[in-house]
Amino acid sequence: MNEISFLEITSDDFDVIYEIELKAYPIPWSEKIMRSMVEGHEYKIKITYYDKVIAYVFVMVVLDEATILNIAVDPDYQGQGIGQKLLRYLKAQLSQKGIRSIFLEVRQSNQNALALYTSEGFHEIDIRKNYYPAKNGREDAIIMACVLMNE
Ligand SMILES: CC(C)(COP(=O)(O)OP(=O)(O)OC[C@H]1O[C@@H](n2cnc3c(N)ncnc32)[C@H](O)[C@@H]1OP(=O)(O)O)[C@@H](O)C(=O)NCCC(=O)NCCS
Repeated sequence: MNEISFLEITSDDFDVIYEIELKAYPIPWSEKIMRSMVEGHEYKIKITYYDKVIAYVFVMVVLDEATILNIAVDPDYQGQGIGQKLLRYLKAQLSQKGIRSIFLEVRQSNQNALALYTSEGFHEIDIRKNYYPAKNGREDAIIMACVLMNE
């Protein structure tokens, strides 16, 4: 997987990103929210593989704190280290911008994401009980944080 690039998301990417969103999540964001993300001013990065978008991340930055709003890899490319590459790139970029910590929230049942975040230096800081709608009722959100070591 050497032919990958990290690029800023533009409004032209909406269709492919929304398609990945629908495939990647059991309960995806709405088309309206995804469009506002793709066209909005958040920090937004995609990974392309031979010009095909295969992953994305949207990040809200306020002062020296960042919050990952959404990160996903096309299911056809999951489990190959793409999510890890995207997180590492993001951490390096945010660190250069002077960001000191990154926050995110994840469903308690999302074992792949939890394993990835933990191995990339995130740790649990809080739990929001019954935060997410789930297929059967509701489920807890784990709030995680990663402290960046800025020079
Ligand atoms: C979570 C997600 C972004 C991870 O991206 P990915 O490219 O699949 O992850 P990677 O291949 O980089 O894997 C990194 C680690 O995650 C875990 N992992 C990822 N996919 C896994 C799988 N299919 N089975 C088991 N563990 C897995 C492993 O711990 C892996 O570490 P390892 O390679 O040392 O075993 C991706 O699975 C995804 O888009 N999921 C759907 C959307 C989602 O849940 N986003 C996160 C919301 S908080």
